[in-house]
Amino acid sequence: MIQRPRGTRDILPPDTRLWNRVEAVAREVFSAWGAEEIRTPVFEHTELFVRSVGETTDIVHKEMYTFLDRKERSLTLRPEGTAGVARAWIENRMQDRSLPLRLYYIGPMFRYERMQRGRYRQFAQIGLEIIGAETPLADAELLAALHEFLVRLGFDDVEIHLNNLGDPDDRQRYQEAIRQVMEVHRAELCGDCQRRLDENPLRLLDCKVPRCQELSAGAPAMDAVASPASREHVAGVEALLARLGVPYRRNPRLVRGLDYYLRTAFEVVSPKLGAGTALGGGGRYDRLIADLGGPAVPGVGFAIGEDRLIDVLPEAFRLETLARPRLYLVPLGDAAQAWALELARDWVRGGVPVELEVTGRSARAAFKRADRDHFPVVVIVGDDELAQGTVTVKRLADGSQTRLTPDRVPGWWLEHVR
Ligand code: HAM
Repeated sequence: MIQRPRGTRDILPPDTRLWNRVEAVAREVFSAWGAEEIRTPVFEHTELFVRSVGETTDIVHKEMYTFLDRKERSLTLRPEGTAGVARAWIENRMQDRSLPLRLYYIGPMFRYERMQRGRYRQFAQIGLEIIGAETPLADAELLAALHEFLVRLGFDDVEIHLNNLGDPDDRQRYQEAIRQVMEVHRAELCGDCQRRLDENPLRLLDCKVPRCQELSAGAPAMDAVASPASREHVAGVEALLARLGVPYRRNPRLVRGLDYYLRTAFEVVSPKLGAGTALGGGGRYDRLIADLGGPAVPGVGFAIGEDRLIDVLPEAFRLETLARPRLYLVPLGDAAQAWALELARDWVRGGVPVELEVTGRSARAAFKRADRDHFPVVVIVGDDELAQGTVTVKRLADGSQTRLTPDRVPGWWLEHVR
């Protein structure tokens, strides 16, 4: 028996309905905010992620699915979406369009992670990027669109944790400050953090090992070291969020798992997910496109983890999506079958979801099935119906029954079921 690879999932019906509806809401909300969809490849040259996400990050260091193709080129299954969007933006000369551009994407990402709840090796992200605007207004608009999306799904308990990661020069000074404070504890740190101390001390703050967290609690906050311009920027974002009533909180310890961020960085936190498991994250990346060889164009964006989002989806949205009544149409006898198929086509055209009984069940077996699968309505067409040109419509809730001409069925359905 061949099983699916560790960390992958089969998403089965009816859950696929939840996925489709969540994605439909994302498309609707983000396009209402002026965004267009972008689709980039699922694999890219490895170099792209090394240069954007950062060589010393966990993602690049130990989580990428990297392989050589038949011509010995190093390719990587994308671990995230922003790098590909930035690459596509440069490659397709999108700076020639009027800026800013708002781009969203929905699709699978791949990270070789240790298995635990909410952590998969193939997972989906829903992301939005605003490229070509450097104002706090752009950050706040992005977060407003994100918040609106979550509100539409019925979330009322998520919070945005936000921090200022400063400008690149600040980063240098900050790394030094952390190194100074932490060097004395080197021997007590986990193996990864000892490496981080040499390569990228900022990453220490992101360590999940409790002892490392205790030790790094003594490190200074980035905002204290950051440039006045970056502080003003993030304060501007906060003021706009406060005005909109988007729930946020400053978290001076927040660092992201990717290197391209500066100034605004944030995570979407849900009380239903464990600590350290964010629903989404993002921030500003004003140097990314230039660092990849493009023009100096700023950007800001986020990605939501769709698997996690669906894990904690509000009950009302879940129930409403899963309750999708269909009319169960049962032909009895050979002569009725062709007629039933025709009726099914006409009713589907008229907007009624129909499930045609195609396996030849008897009336008794069909009613048993209807019960088990919660069909609200069974329509029977047999010899008698065929002769009279009417169908028998039975509501299972109260057992009531009526005869209708087929053209009246869509109207009846709308009135009585939907
Ligand atoms: P990220 O924080 O690495 O950011 O990922 C965003 C979200 O993807 C996470 O908050 C989480 O919900 C989901 N996610 C990440 N890894 C996994 C996993 N192994 N299993 C399930 N879900 C996962 C980024 O990827 C940035 N590109 C976001 C961004 C867009 N920044 C600017 N624009």
